[in-house]
Amino acid sequence: MQKAEAKNRIEELRREIDQHNVYYHEQDEPQISDAEYDILMRKLLELEAQFPDLIVPESPTQRVGGEPLPHFNKVEHEVPMLSLSNAFNEQDLRDFDERIKRLLGTTEMEYVCELKVDGLAVSLLYEEGRFVRGATRGDGQIGEDITQNLKTIRSLPLKLNKPVTLEVRGEAFMPRSAFTRLNEKKREKGEAIFANPRNAAAGSLRQLDPKLAAARSLDLFLYGTGMVQEETPPTHSAYLDWLAELGFRINPKRRVARTIEEVVAYIDEMEQARADLGYEIDGIVIKVNERRYYHALGTTAKSPRWAIAYKFPAEEAVTVLRDIEIKVGRTGAVTPTAILEPVSLAGTTVSRASLHNEEIIREKGLMLGDHVKVKKAGDIIPEVISVLEEKRTGAEREFHMPSSCPACESQLVHLEEEVALRCINPECPAQIREGMIHFVSRGAMNIDGLGEKVIIQLFEAGLIQSVADLYTLEEKDLLPLDRMGEKSVNNLIAAIKRSKENSMERLLFGLGIRFVGAKAAQILAEHFGDLERLRHASSEELEEIEGIGPRMADSVRMYFAKPEVEQMLMRLQQEGVNFRYKGLTQAEKGAVDSPFADKTVVITGTMEAMGRKEAKEKIEALGGKVTGSVSKKTDYVVAGASAGSKLEKAKELGVDVIDEARFLQMLADD
Ligand code: IVH
Repeated sequence: MQKAEAKNRIEELRREIDQHNVYYHEQDEPQISDAEYDILMRKLLELEAQFPDLIVPESPTQRVGGEPLPHFNKVEHEVPMLSLSNAFNEQDLRDFDERIKRLLGTTEMEYVCELKVDGLAVSLLYEEGRFVRGATRGDGQIGEDITQNLKTIRSLPLKLNKPVTLEVRGEAFMPRSAFTRLNEKKREKGEAIFANPRNAAAGSLRQLDPKLAAARSLDLFLYGTGMVQEETPPTHSAYLDWLAELGFRINPKRRVARTIEEVVAYIDEMEQARADLGYEIDGIVIKVNERRYYHALGTTAKSPRWAIAYKFPAEEAVTVLRDIEIKVGRTGAVTPTAILEPVSLAGTTVSRASLHNEEIIREKGLMLGDHVKVKKAGDIIPEVISVLEEKRTGAEREFHMPSSCPACESQLVHLEEEVALRCINPECPAQIREGMIHFVSRGAMNIDGLGEKVIIQLFEAGLIQSVADLYTLEEKDLLPLDRMGEKSVNNLIAAIKRSKENSMERLLFGLGIRFVGAKAAQILAEHFGDLERLRHASSEELEEIEGIGPRMADSVRMYFAKPEVEQMLMRLQQEGVNFRYKGLTQAEKGAVDSPFADKTVVITGTMEAMGRKEAKEKIEALGGKVTGSVSKKTDYVVAGASAGSKLEKAKELGVDVIDEARFLQMLADD
């Protein structure tokens, strides 16, 4: 493609991608699938790689470009980022209204009501319409520079519709759907989950590697100003509209209230709507609409007098702890679950809450029959907070963890330093059942339509005793199950059949070997390429693999040494379940003995044969790492034409410099 043509196409792609971001984030109505979006993005990346001088900072490809940072730089806020004083009831709001009217000597006052989104306050700096820096609030005076991570938020405009210079402030947050997905993934990997979307958003924005932040799908609403050089509209509501015109995402639920009664009505309405929003809110922010009053009202040490945050009452409820149920997980860990008198809380009915382990039951002093206070942690996961001892009647009973497994009656044990009790009987039916639920789950064999309920029914009907039995199920086995019509049975059988073609890492993860999460399964699959080879690997061979520790190696060895495992694998193989890894193996990636294996490379200048992006991909495919700046740790500097300071630095440090011809040679040699 000629440069002129490429330029047109690049601009067209950018417009298209930006428009799809608007459909997706602002209108909540995606017009294309994620896969189609990725195709557009890839096309743009390819063209930009061919014509690197056409890359501009506001291109959507520039959202995730940078390398991990060593640390975050400090940013001083020219205008401090204050917080808000709180109102907890209607009276507090009326006091706020009266104080303002008294201070200003008026009888009427108009307010803007906004949702108080539960995320992290951020400041965004634009110079002549371009996003140049983003920062956290920090202590209000000094925050951290998180520009790279903020850029990954697709609804953050990299370029505004007018070349204005201003600092805007708003809330970065994680939508509920992204939060659920993230925790699901963490659970699959056996990692600690985030308690609520706020913590998850904070954790993501504090990732030094922007690629990790990008994977977290954060979003953003703007609601305020920092430093401004422009003439801004006289009212806050007009200011928000102006921000929207510039291209910022503003919360559509904002509303002007002409009296404090209208404020109260808005709060009531939003409290009802709260459960159906795609994100968490913890209150309502009320701001004086006329900005000319702000100066006169002034601020206290911490917060402005022209705004207040109404905090929703913490969603708590009192109910009765009826029983404590013991659940045996697939690894044999035994966890107690509180069975509660159903109670309505934050829009859903709560009847169970995990108690995690016996120690927590002791700490809280829970007895069966107690009245307990429950809340939704992060308004999602129900939690028992405390006992109402004054409500005791004497009929409450103490709870003891059983000493034997409720499913198989074998003795429970504490392994090493673990707080959790475990059932270590490999034939425990509860563990087997949970293991099968894991096997079919999304991160493992991903068998659509085969959820927990179906597995339990099949298991209880004696139709499946091991995962291998799944592959012999027939229509007649499934039809009698609850809510199973002919169509769903056919779909299910097709899904089971499809899963036979899965690549090795899914099967390996699905087997549920202790300590082998999705990531380790991937590493092992890449290394061995076939389950048969892994099965016969020695401990030494396993431990040599990067990312596989001795504990995991032992666990893998022990697992495959079991005769019942051998049996099961043989049956899976007979049923035609694929054991091979279908992605690129380490060897195929050429990472083992390529000239770039484990080398740190910096690319500079322009090459004729390819753009930097392509060069980077090639080096990475050969096991190398490409970074942005030259240091003593750099192994090679690939220098194209008109290379500048990086080449100088390389010479200064004595780093091996490779010109384009030699670079191409090295690629070809492999
Ligand atoms: S205005 C000086 N508006 O609540 C006024 N804050 O306690 C600054 N927040 O740190 C804040 N939604 O993180 C404002 N619509 C909204 C908000 C909002 C959430 C957060 C923000 C701030 C905290 C104030």
